Amino acid sequence: MDRKLQQAQGNWVVGERFWGRENDIGILTRMIDDGAHISIVAQRRMGKTSLMKELARRLSDRYVCLYLDLQKESAPPDAVAELALVLNPHKPLWEKGKKLFSNLWQGVSGGVEEVSYGEIGIKLRAGLDSGNWMDKGDELFRILSKSEKPVLLMIDELPLMVNRMLREGDAGMTPENIRQVDRFMSWLRKNSTEHQGKVRIMLSGSIGLEPVLHQAGLSAVINNYQPYDLKPWDFKTATGCLNALARHEKIFFEDNAVQLMVEKLGCCIPHHVQFFFACVFKHCMLRNDMHFKAIEVDELYDSEMLGLRGHAELAHYEERLSMYFEKDCLPLVKAMLTETSISGMLTMPVILSLRGTYASPDSCSDEALAEMLRILQHDGYIKKKNEGYIYESSLLRDWWKKTHEDFYTRRK
Ligand SMILES: Nc1ncnc2c1ncn2[C@@H]1O[C@H](COP(=O)(O)OP(=O)(O)OP(=O)(O)O)[C@@H](O)[C@H]1O
Ligand SMILES: [Mg+2]
Repeated sequence: MDRKLQQAQGNWVVGERFWGRENDIGILTRMIDDGAHISIVAQRRMGKTSLMKELARRLSDRYVCLYLDLQKESAPPDAVAELALVLNPHKPLWEKGKKLFSNLWQGVSGGVEEVSYGEIGIKLRAGLDSGNWMDKGDELFRILSKSEKPVLLMIDELPLMVNRMLREGDAGMTPENIRQVDRFMSWLRKNSTEHQGKVRIMLSGSIGLEPVLHQAGLSAVINNYQPYDLKPWDFKTATGCLNALARHEKIFFEDNAVQLMVEKLGCCIPHHVQFFFACVFKHCMLRNDMHFKAIEVDELYDSEMLGLRGHAELAHYEERLSMYFEKDCLPLVKAMLTETSISGMLTMPVILSLRGTYASPDSCSDEALAEMLRILQHDGYIKKKNEGYIYESSLLRDWWKKTHEDFYTRRK
């Protein structure tokens, strides 16, 4: 029977809400079995977290799968505390971890055995500092390496933590900040090689790790990870997903509505596919008619995907540019994106002319410009085509145009 799929809720999806990705799972499983350390590279909302959670679910009989989210962490001691805390569901490892940190809760009533999970979190964070995180972290890795089953340590949002560390304080990317990141990443690297075969590390995050490290001249600290490029869904998978969602919600797509929806997106980022479906579902529910026709696609796309709701989903594409680019370069980056959205293609002569208007060769050298284009490609904004660059996603192109066109002065 054709599969039905429940709509996504919250951030990531797993199990019966998870669609497709069989090839990715197959390839990644082989890489993991080979003992590789992996860095998942993909732009936002591609389903990186979902893929890691689903992998953990499917591999949990053969691996101890640990999922570590560094979204909120800003320093190595916090990351080590988190690493200790994620051992909690794995009792033998958790007990060893508790012993390792026993000095931190001496004096707590009842001793180590009685300390609750919540108390441990607080004490760990208070007891780990810049002087001891590295030794304690090494000890934790040693514990992991002695686990009965091999360990798959999935570290999500590491680039956010690294980016925060690099820009800590008011002075931007200082040599001291860079040194701290180097220390942390080199520590992780050292443990990944020391316990190769026992512990596999998989990295991911909603911003690219490589561009962040590259800016600090630290690209080499991740050359022990094999990059895995997580691609958008192909049209067949996206179409299958929309049909499976429709079966579950009792929506009837008429004519070639599904085909048109997928073509509108251009690039089938799973979240955008789910979001488009959610718009169709709401539209049909409100008018109490569950038949959705092809001639309705354009209007719904304009009013919802490019409307207020879409804006809330897509605004991060603009917000995050300020994470990567210094203030001096931002107007140029945005002008390049607006120009591409209007004219469809960004060629080198146009780029140079925009630099003349929106920056100066001092604030944006040829190298800085090349780096800018590299980051915009790495993060899925634009891709190379023939003599220039075009948008990767039609949805992003249409939204960017709608948001910026009115405030933009075209080149002469
Ligand atoms: N395999 C999948 N099956 C169904 N829906 C998916 C799948 N992967 C991603 N999605 C959709 O995309 C959304 C985002 O997924 P997820 O949080 O895993 O992406 P991400 O790449 O980790 O995002 P971010 O860049 O924000 O960290 C989900 O809520 C879901 O709607
Ligand atoms: Mg994620």
